[in-house]
Order: sequence, then C-alpha cells, then structure tokens
Amino acid sequence: MLTLGIETSCDETAVALYDSDAGLLAHRLHSQVDLHRVYGGVVPELASRDHIRKLPALIRDVARSAGVDGPQDVGGIAYTAGPGLIGALMVGASVASSLAFAWKVPVLGVHHMEGHLLAPMLEDESPEFPFVALLVSGGHTMLVAVEGIGRYKILGETLDDAVGEAFDKTAKLLGLPYPGGPALAALATAGRPGRFSFPRPMLNRPNCDFSFSGLKTAVVIATRDVALDEQTRADVALAFEQAVVDTLAGKCLLALEMTGTTRLVVAGGVGANQRLRERLAAEMSRRGGRLFYPRTEFCTDNGAMIAHVGALRLGAGQTDRDGPVARARWPLDSLEPV
Ligand code: KG4
Ligand code: ZN
Repeated sequence: MLTLGIETSCDETAVALYDSDAGLLAHRLHSQVDLHRVYGGVVPELASRDHIRKLPALIRDVARSAGVDGPQDVGGIAYTAGPGLIGALMVGASVASSLAFAWKVPVLGVHHMEGHLLAPMLEDESPEFPFVALLVSGGHTMLVAVEGIGRYKILGETLDDAVGEAFDKTAKLLGLPYPGGPALAALATAGRPGRFSFPRPMLNRPNCDFSFSGLKTAVVIATRDVALDEQTRADVALAFEQAVVDTLAGKCLLALEMTGTTRLVVAGGVGANQRLRERLAAEMSRRGGRLFYPRTEFCTDNGAMIAHVGALRLGAGQTDRDGPVARARWPLDSLEPV
C-alpha cells in the first residue's frame, strides 16, 4: 500500500510517500527555522500559518518526484496527531482528513514519537525486536523497552527539561542562534577538555529517569564571572556536551541491563549528535551489542517516519474512527499494538 505521510507537529512541514513493498519513494521538507529565528524559538501561531501555506505545494512535489500519477495510486494517508503544538497539529490533521475524504482512502493520525522510534527501520540495517530506544528530541527524553509495534514500556523519562531543550537553552546562553543543538555541537568541536566540568544529573540513581534543568543552571553559574570569548564558549560547549553524553550513555547501559537486551536505538533530533552516536556505538560494541540509528535527516522531524508508521498501522487495518485527531499531549505507552 502506498501511504502519504504528513508531519506538522512543530516547525517543520514535511511529507513523504512510503510503499509497503518498495519502501520510501520520496520525501520533502520545508524548515521554518528562518521564520522563527528572529524570535529565538518557535512561535506557534506563525508555525500553523506557515504549514497551511507550504503543505499543498510539498504534497504535489513529493507525488511528482515519486512518479505518482494521481490520487488513485494512493492507498492511505497518515498524519502526526500528536504530541506537538496544537494549532500546527490541527493543520496536518485537517489537510490529511480532507484529502482522504476527497480521494476516498483511509486516514490515520499517528504518534510523532513512534515515528522517531521506528525511523531506524527506514534504513537497510534495521533493528529486530526487542530493543531499547533512547528517544531524545526538543520535547522528549525517554528510554523505552520496545517489544513490537505499539508495544512500548517507558523505562524512564525526564523529570524536567528535555535534552534538546537543554541544548537549545545552553546554546542561547552562549549567544548561538536557534536551533541551538547543532550550533552548540559545532562550537564544541573547538573546545578544550578539562577547563569546565558540569554535573552528570541522576547518574548515581538506580533508575532510568533524567533531569536536565540543573545542568543549564550549572552552566549559568560557571560562566557568570568569566569573559565569554570564542575559546571559552567552545570550552563550555564541549563540557556541556560531554556531561549530556555521559549521562545519556550511563542511563542507556542501565536500561539494557534491566531488559537484558543487546540492541539499542537512538532517535529524535538529538540523535543527530555525532559525539552521542560515537559514544553509544563504542559502548555497544564493547558489550557485543549493536547501535541502530536513522540517517541524520531522519533523526530530526521528517515526513518519512510518519508515512512509515502510517503504512504499518493502516496496513493492519487501523484508521481514525471518530474524525481528525490532534493531541498536544499523548502518552507513548497508550498506543494500540499492531
Ligand atoms: O526531533 P526534533 O527535530 O523535534 C522535536 O520533536 O522536538 O528535535 C529537535 C531538537 C532541538 O532541540 C535541536 O536543538 C536538537 O534536536 N538537535 C541537536 C542536534 N541536531 C538537532 N542537538 C544536539 N546535537 C545535534 N547535532
Ligand atoms: Zn520530533
């Protein structure tokens, strides 16, 4: 079945066509980063309006690029129903449901984090179930025991800030532009180790929960009385990144121990972080296990992961039963198994 996927949960308008047999046929993305940069973060109302402006052309473009002749080729439509910005979600839900009505095909609202979680399955080297997933994005930080599609047990999550949020806030402190994560990671490459040291929050606790708000405060305190020249900013960025990577790696190892699993997935925007990937890959090979992750462009928000989850669930006969769905909050462990 050919599934059109639509992602509009935050500041990326993204669409893709995924075929259950042939795999991913085409994907397109419009980033709103330039629109929001002057405000230092995402402005929800501007995000919603821009999704409306960009979606129709992106859908036409992806269809052309996939060689789709017309709506008769499409078997179903999936959209991100949550979690995310409610207005932005409603745009995707409305467009997807209207097209499905016009084209007389089934439509399904899917979970954004399930999209991230299963995105490594878009690659040639795809993880088998069961595995442990570290989901790290701008809004979420969690460790999940994955038994199968829709069979998710949350082992731990952040008690306050998400790790992407910590990257973004720390980047802002260092005067870097939004979105801060990639900019901070780039700055850290020029950092000298050992000049600053930040806490590894919750690492000594015997559970898989995280807390990142204190780390940001530690950066504020450490930089209060020093001149923030270019080298100092790079040193701070490196020390921050090392603290985050150590913390995430420590909790992943605990989760693998608790579940007796040897396969680890890292996904979500922060999963694009090179230092994190290298560290997790090294830890996994040391333990005779394996790390899986999506290609970098499918770590951050994209349409392919939504079309992929949609194809799996629509293929199993699941559809929206009560009209379009948009949920700002939606627990991952409440999903229907496939
Ligand atoms: O998954 P995503 O695109 O959107 C959400 O669902 O939140 O994640 C965005 C987050 C942002 O906080 C961004 O700064 C962070 O991922 N991010 C990174 C990197 N690339 C994106 N953080 C650290 N290193 C990166 N290379
Ligand atoms: Zn995301």
